[in-house]
Amino acid sequence: MTVGVQGEAEPLLELEGVALSYGPVRALAEVSLSIRAGEVVGLVGDNGAGKSSLVKLIAGVHRPTAGTMRWQGRPYAPRGPKDALEAGIATIHQHLALAPRLPVWHNLFLGAERVRKSLLFGLPVLDIARMRREARAALDRLAIAVPDVDRPVGELSGGQRQAVAIARALLWNARLLIMDEPTAALGVRETAEVRALIRGLEAQGVAVLLVSHDMQDVVAVAHRVAVLRKGRLVALREAAGLDADRLARLVMTAEAA
Ligand SMILES: Nc1ncnc2c1ncn2[C@@H]1O[C@H](COP(=O)(O)OP(=O)(O)O)[C@@H](O)[C@H]1O
Ligand SMILES: [Mg+2]
Repeated sequence: MTVGVQGEAEPLLELEGVALSYGPVRALAEVSLSIRAGEVVGLVGDNGAGKSSLVKLIAGVHRPTAGTMRWQGRPYAPRGPKDALEAGIATIHQHLALAPRLPVWHNLFLGAERVRKSLLFGLPVLDIARMRREARAALDRLAIAVPDVDRPVGELSGGQRQAVAIARALLWNARLLIMDEPTAALGVRETAEVRALIRGLEAQGVAVLLVSHDMQDVVAVAHRVAVLRKGRLVALREAAGLDADRLARLVMTAEAA
């Protein structure tokens, strides 16, 4: 367990009284939440509770209409997803945005390919050897095996694809991964792989905000659980001692304090 790490570490991300309205629709109100390094926070709530809206605030897609965000102790006001990524916050969407026909190594570096000067004319060429090597090293830090960095991503299992998406985020120096329904399309075995991946991030000090409909996922990997209901944080508690049934009841019945 990481009681020491969690107890002492300064929060990575702190939300204080955050609100978001879409015109007249109030999607979030007075949400205060912090996430520490190496911590997995499950974010649950019914359809329309505000989960995606909260993710979009943190990921820089929308700006809060009230409240403040802090990241690594400093005010955090991303003007777009690029700001969030540069700060170290990566969002892994349900559809992983991988290129199925390209090999694993190339997916890790898509849009940020390593280049070197060619020996012949000094012109930049892709440094494939370096990307393969760095891809291998990044994947080896994760809890599930991706045996061959030359395989097209389309031939991998769902769990392995998640590993590729996570490795890519880590190569971009992400300190917080937001995962949106990572197991929604997966079978039992792949779901187990993804849970192992998420748990393995703790040792690297990477935090995870896990959005999931699957209460089993959440109780299996989260340290704490945040429950949203009609845009308000109605429960925030340690996952220890919660099982999927109790969490589901909390989602249905918790009331704003
Ligand atoms: N782009 C938008 N424009 C207007 N209303 C929106 C928009 N996105 C979400 N909402 C509303 O905000 C509330 C929260 O939605 P959302 O954050 O998507 O919840 P969840 O992800 O928990 O299902 C809902 O009432 C939803 O209808
Ligand atoms: Mg949503």
